[in-house]
Amino acid sequence: MLVWVRGASMDYWSFYISLLFVCFLRTSAQYEEIRWTYSGLVGQAEWSEHFPDCGGSSQSPVDVVTCQTQYDPTLTPVTPLGYSQNNNQPFTLLNTGHTVVVQLPEWMGLGGLPWLFSAVQLHLHWGSGGPSHGGSEHTIDGLSAEAELHIVHYNTELFPNISAAMRQKNGLAVLGILIEAGDETNPAFNSIISYLSRIRHAEQKALIPGFDVSSLLPKDLGRYYRYNGSLTTPPCYQEVIWTVFYEKVKISKTQLLKLETILYSSKSEDMDRMLLQDNYRTTQPLNNRVIYKSFLAEPGKEFAPGEVTAIVIGVICGCVGLAVIIRFITKTIRFFTLLHHETEMVNKCLTCFQTDQA
Ligand SMILES: *[C@@H]1O[C@H](CO)[C@@H](O)[C@H](O)[C@H]1NC(C)=O
Ligand SMILES: *[C@@H]1O[C@H](CO)[C@@H](O)[C@H](O)[C@H]1NC(C)=O
Repeated sequence: MLVWVRGASMDYWSFYISLLFVCFLRTSAQYEEIRWTYSGLVGQAEWSEHFPDCGGSSQSPVDVVTCQTQYDPTLTPVTPLGYSQNNNQPFTLLNTGHTVVVQLPEWMGLGGLPWLFSAVQLHLHWGSGGPSHGGSEHTIDGLSAEAELHIVHYNTELFPNISAAMRQKNGLAVLGILIEAGDETNPAFNSIISYLSRIRHAEQKALIPGFDVSSLLPKDLGRYYRYNGSLTTPPCYQEVIWTVFYEKVKISKTQLLKLETILYSSKSEDMDRMLLQDNYRTTQPLNNRVIYKSFLAEPGKEFAPGEVTAIVIGVICGCVGLAVIIRFITKTIRFFTLLHHETEMVNKCLTCFQTDQA
């Protein structure tokens, strides 16, 4: 009897413990507590084992092979809405351990897409310096830029909030801006970079003065590449309408260096400090997707005002020249026609003369 009770209670406990274990596994999966990284134990190659969507067929980023993109004349310029308004409200700056995030107010949005989108946050991806070292996520004809800015929006016409939007078709719209390093300081980017030292460790937050988010964008919002893709970090949901601008923005080498060396991916209490670097995903297969472009001519292949003048003068000279040649040819033709007529007349007369004589 006692044995039976003990046996039964042991069975009950082992069942209870396994149930707890299963529940723990399920909740940890649900709350995405798996600590993923870009390289290492749960690095990029392992993401799909824990986050199935990362192994999907419409993943981001991608390499834009420009000669294989298709022109779509219906792609009108994207229009930032309220980006310049900050209502003197501070923004929250956050080190997630994977990137630096600026949380954006809901009144900021995006037009020029089939639905209205509301801004959620912006963040950056970068490398670790050094020659031929990437940093951007998207590449153009196989070439990386030094960094990349992403401004994330969700579809407010179809979904009540970002959590609902991020799992459903056309839920998100992300603007991708490629960043190159040059000599000049980009003051707009200092609105973020100057405050990085306040959030050096993962999970640290700081309030920063609100700034004009549109000043981070390239000037030309009309030329861009558009494709259907995914979040570039786990859980890699494939609901993103991507807009990658043709024009790159420039920051200084000093600004890039700060971005690459100030932040840690480790928490303040962690014994080992790990620099937050190389937080970009490698490009993913395009599979059956098409990348559309909103433009035909590339800006470099259009004409500058000086060239236009040269072309106009050239065309005028050409026309005058052509007129002279045509006049010469018609005159020559007329001359030969007259000559021909005269020869015919002479011949006819000769014939007449010969027949008369005969
Ligand atoms: C988002 O919307 C869904 C669907 O209406 C709702 O169930 C969920 O609670 C909302 N989440 C948040 C964080 O508001
Ligand atoms: C994205 O997918 C939708 C349908 O799933 C399609 O209508 C749309 O044209 C696609 N957009 C691009 C840019 O490929």
